[in-house]
Amino acid sequence: MTVSERHIPTTLDGPFEPATRRFDSSLRRGSDDLPMTHPRLRMNVSLNFPEQIALAVSSSTSMWISWVTGNAQIGLNVTPLDPASVRSEVWYGKKSGKYTSVGKGDSLVYSQLYPFEGLLNYTSGIIHHVKLEGLEPGTRYYYKCGDSSIQAMSQESTFETFQTPSPKNYPTRIALIGDLGLTSNSTTTIDHLTNNDPSMILMIGDLTYANQYRTTGGKGASCFSCAFPDAPIRESYQPRWDGWGRFMEPLTSKIPMMVIEGNHEIEPQADGITFKSYLSRFAVPAKESGSKSNFYYSFDAEGIHFIMLGSYVDYNSTGAQFSWLKQDLQSVNRSVTPWLVATMHAPWYNSYASHYQEFECMRSEMEALLYQYKVDIVFNGHVHAYERMNRVYNYTLDRCGPIYITVGDGGNIEKVDVDHADEPGKCPLAGDNTPEFGGVCHSNFSSGPAKGNFCWNKQPEWSAFRESSFGHGILEVQVIKF
Ligand SMILES: [Fe+2]
Repeated sequence: MTVSERHIPTTLDGPFEPATRRFDSSLRRGSDDLPMTHPRLRMNVSLNFPEQIALAVSSSTSMWISWVTGNAQIGLNVTPLDPASVRSEVWYGKKSGKYTSVGKGDSLVYSQLYPFEGLLNYTSGIIHHVKLEGLEPGTRYYYKCGDSSIQAMSQESTFETFQTPSPKNYPTRIALIGDLGLTSNSTTTIDHLTNNDPSMILMIGDLTYANQYRTTGGKGASCFSCAFPDAPIRESYQPRWDGWGRFMEPLTSKIPMMVIEGNHEIEPQADGITFKSYLSRFAVPAKESGSKSNFYYSFDAEGIHFIMLGSYVDYNSTGAQFSWLKQDLQSVNRSVTPWLVATMHAPWYNSYASHYQEFECMRSEMEALLYQYKVDIVFNGHVHAYERMNRVYNYTLDRCGPIYITVGDGGNIEKVDVDHADEPGKCPLAGDNTPEFGGVCHSNFSSGPAKGNFCWNKQPEWSAFRESSFGHGILEVQVIKF
């Protein structure tokens, strides 16, 4: 069946009778990591030439452009490069080959250090971030990035700015990916996504699975102690990030990719340092949206206001993220951006056994706020399958609640999730799903058909549709004239 033959549900439809498309065992449940020598992962530029070029939305009149130059190093002894040794320039203009403006920015390097026997240290190439400002909305630009003083500029690429936020304009298609990884299945997902020709990608956490490359031997095997049995922490193999940046570049050099952190981005290293790669590699419109942290931010894409929330940073109602979220929601003008879409990596609604009720603490802190401000849709990852919820609030069907959609089925090394918590023998124990951040708030349902139980005995009424397969989502807003 082609997509056009199916009825694609809209936010006007529902509530739906719960339905499950059973797992098709003829589909592969997983695939191996792509090797570092794979053509899509290999470095294919000369030294100091830009690679891993990626765009991120700043606003309809500004765009972030990021890239990497120089050689990363991995081994026992690594010496950080000097970020000041290569300039960060973007030449751009509205006609191909005619660059009327130059944008300049900042650069940095980061290191991932493991002073433990058997583990490798890493220091990155030079990561450049330039914000182009004063752009015209809804306009195509052509650009090259690099360092013109050493004739090390990239090939020309192109992007289009979004229109000024208004209820009349919407991005053509927005791609949604969770838990992508860097396997053969990730490749299929990205190739399908490319064919859908989206105008932006939302990358909802767990990007590269660099932290499992050496621990699982690239095959997803549980081999956590094989490579480094005595180390107090596991090594996250940072060259995977560089490979992933190259793998994504054909897309990200032309359309913006908006990222939010997942648990695989925590990547603990020596001295309790975490999230170093995520924080160093990605420019996000945090300052632009009044956030003091790159772990949560918001932005407009024409008539949609997107809120990117952090599951792995304080989400309590007394914390900075919560007060920022409240302020951001208060500032949304629904007559300018009628649609309000939130994302966070870990789902609050999930009827798979995997990660079941894992982020109940975050839900209990934040759900009322999203409900109060009438968020339309919440996209999540973390669970490696698809699930679309009916409109729900506090586990009760509610036509004013958001629609929650899990798309954590990008194709990573951990394979697809197939067990449902409502199936005989599949209900997790309360201690089975412990979050990598925050507390545990698992509890039995206090009301409704599953009252007194931890799991339902059939697909819950708030779960509209679930399917265990790899893929990506596409969000389209259609303006219907009455
Ligand atoms: Fe995750």
